[in-house]
Amino acid sequence: VRAKGIHHLGVAVEDLDEAVETYRRLFGAELEQRDVVESQGVEAAAVRVGESRVELLASLGAETPVGKFLSKRGPGVHHVAFEVSDLRQKLAELAEQGVHVIDQEPHRGLFGLEVAFVHPESVHGVLAELVASG
Ligand code: CO
Repeated sequence: VRAKGIHHLGVAVEDLDEAVETYRRLFGAELEQRDVVESQGVEAAAVRVGESRVELLASLGAETPVGKFLSKRGPGVHHVAFEVSDLRQKLAELAEQGVHVIDQEPHRGLFGLEVAFVHPESVHGVLAELVASG
């Protein structure tokens, strides 16, 4: 499975407004999109830094995935997202190789992206997200 590159880094934060401002001030990041996704318990902001992108993730509650991450690990890098063509086939290939794929099927992620996650235990402790290239 050859990814095209890193689509974004996902970073868990306590305060979304503050994080967007920090990335703007320190790195010249520009707000690209911002969204509340109740079903995933997350409020997210995508910021552009030059050619790259960081996805800032704040939780809508302690029992959400990002809320649990924050209480266990504190703020910090949450996942790395790789852009791939033909996501469905890539998922099948990874599963065939015995990789612990969390999502057997692509689903609609933040900002309307088609995504699937790979378990950190298969990626040296880092949650990986595969994003279908538009
Ligand atoms: Co992401």
